[in-house]
Amino acid sequence: MAVIGTDINEAKSILESGELVAIPTETVYGLAGNAFNTEAIAKIFEVKNRPSFDPLIVHTYSLEQVKSIVKELPKKALLLAERFWPGPLTLLLPKQAIIPDLVTSGMDTVAVRIPNQPLAMQLLQSLDFPLVAPSANPFGYVSPTSAQHVDDQLGEKIAYVLDGGPCPVGIESTIVGFEGDEAIIHRLGGLSKEKIESIIGKVKLMPHSSSNPKAPGMLKSHYSPGKKVVVGNLDTLVEEYGKDRTGIISFTRSVEGIVPEHQMILAPDGELTTAAKNLFSSLRLLDKKDIDVILAEPVPEHGLGLAINDRLKRAAAK
Ligand code: TXA
Ligand code: MG
Repeated sequence: MAVIGTDINEAKSILESGELVAIPTETVYGLAGNAFNTEAIAKIFEVKNRPSFDPLIVHTYSLEQVKSIVKELPKKALLLAERFWPGPLTLLLPKQAIIPDLVTSGMDTVAVRIPNQPLAMQLLQSLDFPLVAPSANPFGYVSPTSAQHVDDQLGEKIAYVLDGGPCPVGIESTIVGFEGDEAIIHRLGGLSKEKIESIIGKVKLMPHSSSNPKAPGMLKSHYSPGKKVVVGNLDTLVEEYGKDRTGIISFTRSVEGIVPEHQMILAPDGELTTAAKNLFSSLRLLDKKDIDVILAEPVPEHGLGLAINDRLKRAAAK
C-alpha cells in the first residue's frame, strides 16, 4: 500500500526523482509526474493502464507558467483563465515544443489547468517543472475523490498519496477548446456551461464519441464501476429489477423497501454541487455492496447537472 500523508517535501523529492505521486485537486485526485520527463510520463500510462492515444492534462500554478508552455492564448481563453483559474477548468491550447509529444498523444494542442487546492498549489510552486496528472484511477474506472480511493486501486503501484481530504468539487474539470473565434466544451465538468457563457457568450458542446480523434478521452464507457448501472426513472426501474439485490442512486429521494445501506441520496440539500461532490464515492460504495445492479436517476439538467448526468450515462454504457 502507498503511504498517505501531507508531506509536501516528500512528494517533491519523489517527483524530482522521476517517480509518481498522487495529488489532491479540487475536482478529483490526480496521478502526477514531471511533465518534462518522458520516463515519468510513460509510467503514468503504465500504472493507469491507459492507452497512449489518450492525452494528459498539464497542471501549473500560474498564468505565467502556462504562457511558458503554450504558443498563444486566444482572447476567450484569457478571459476564462483570468476569471476561473485556479479552478475546475482545463483549456486546450497550441503547445510549445518543450511539452513532450507523449503528453498530447502527438497532437499540437496541450490541455492545461491551474488547480484550486492548497497542497497541490504549494507543491506546484515548489517544483521547477509542471505536473501531468490524469485522474488517479485505473483506465475506465470511476475517478477517485479521496486519498483512500487512490490507495484502494493504485496503492501497490505508487509510493505516496498526498492527502488533501475529500475533493470539494467531486467531478473532473470542464475542458474547453477553441476553433477560430469559437469556444467548444470538449468535456462537461466541474465548471458549468452557464458560468462559462456568462463570461464569453454562447459555447458549443462537442458531441461525445469514441472515434473522434479531437477528444480521444471521450470514450463512451468511462467512469464505469464493475457493477451494472442502469439510468432512468427510479420507480419504473425498481419495478423491473426488484428491491432485494438492488442499489439506488437518487438526487434527493429514497425508495421504500430498499435497505438504507443500498441507497445513495446524492444531495439531501437539493444542491447540484452537493450531488457532484458525492457522485463518485457513491458509485464506489455501491460497487462494493452485495448487490447485482445500480439503478440511477438523472439529476436536474442544468448547471453541474449536465456533467453529473453525463457521468451517469457513461457509467451505464458498457
Ligand atoms: O479535473 C481534472 O481534469 C482531473 C484532475 C486530476 O486535474 N484530471 C483528469 O484527467 O480528469 P484525465 O486524464 O482523467 O482526463 C483528461 C481528459 C482526457 O479525456 C483526455 O483525452 C483529454 O482530457 N485531453 C487531454 N489533452 C487533450 C488534448 N490535447 N486535446 C483533447 N483532449 C485532451
Ligand atoms: Mg480520467
